[in-house]
Amino acid sequence: MKPRVAIIGKGRVGGALREGLERAGYEVRAAGKEPQLVREAAEWGGIIVLVVPYGAIDDVLRSIGDAVNGKPLIDVTNALTSDMELALGFSTSGAEELQKKAPAAKVVKASNTTFAQHMSTGHVKGTAISLFAAGDDQGAKEQVLAMGRDIGFDPVDAGPLRNARLLEPLASLNIQLAFSVKMGTQIGFKLVH
Ligand SMILES: NC(=O)c1ccc[n+]([C@@H]2O[C@H](COP(=O)([O-])OP(=O)(O)OC[C@H]3O[C@@H](n4cnc5c(N)ncnc54)[C@H](OP(=O)(O)O)[C@@H]3O)[C@@H](O)[C@H]2O)c1
Repeated sequence: MKPRVAIIGKGRVGGALREGLERAGYEVRAAGKEPQLVREAAEWGGIIVLVVPYGAIDDVLRSIGDAVNGKPLIDVTNALTSDMELALGFSTSGAEELQKKAPAAKVVKASNTTFAQHMSTGHVKGTAISLFAAGDDQGAKEQVLAMGRDIGFDPVDAGPLRNARLLEPLASLNIQLAFSVKMGTQIGFKLVH
C-alpha cells in the first residue's frame, strides 16, 4: 500500500510534486505557512516532504515537532543564499544539518537536482531523468525511490546522506546551466547506468 504523503510548502515544487504523486495514486495533503496545518499534515502523513525555502526550515521543524519522528523526511530544499550561491559545503550539507535538527527523522535528500517544471512527470523532452536519493535509512530511501519511479523518474540510489554534499552542488550546476549559461529550464540530469 502506498504511504500517505504530507507536503510542507505549497509553491512551485510542492504543487508539481502533488500533481505527480496524485496522478500516481498517492494520497497527498499539502500545508503552507500555517503552523497548525503543518503539524496536522505531518501527523497525518507516513512520509513528509519539505519544499520550503532553506531559510524557513527551522520554522517548519518547530511546527512539525515530534510528528516527524520515525518517518521519512524528504529534503528537496536547496541550501542557497539570497544570491543563489551555496550556503553550505563541502564538509556538510543542508540535509545533514536537517538530520541534526530532527534526529529521530529518516532524512533523505532527493529531487533537489530537478527543476519544478519536471517534478510532476520526471521527464524532460520525453526522457526520464534521474531522481537521486541519498539517505542513511535504507527503508526510507527505498520508499522515496519507489515514489520517484511511480511519478516517472529513473530513480538512483545515491548512497548515504553525506552524499547530499554532492547533490546540493549538482543542483547549483543545474541553476547555473539554466540561468547563467542560458540553457533555460528544459534541462535535467540523466545518469546512464
Ligand atoms: N523551483 C525549483 O525548480 C526547485 C528545484 C529544486 C529544489 N527547489 C527547492 O525547493 C524549495 C521550494 O522551492 P519552490 O520553488 O517551490 O519555492 P516557492 O515557489 O517560493 O514555494 C515555497 C513555499 O514555501 C512556503 N513557505 C515559506 N515559508 C514557510 C514557512 N515558514 N513555513 C511553511 N511554508 C513556508 C511558501 O509559502 P508562501 O507562498 O505563503 O510564501 C511557498 O508555498 C526551495 O528550498 C528550493 O531551493 C526548488
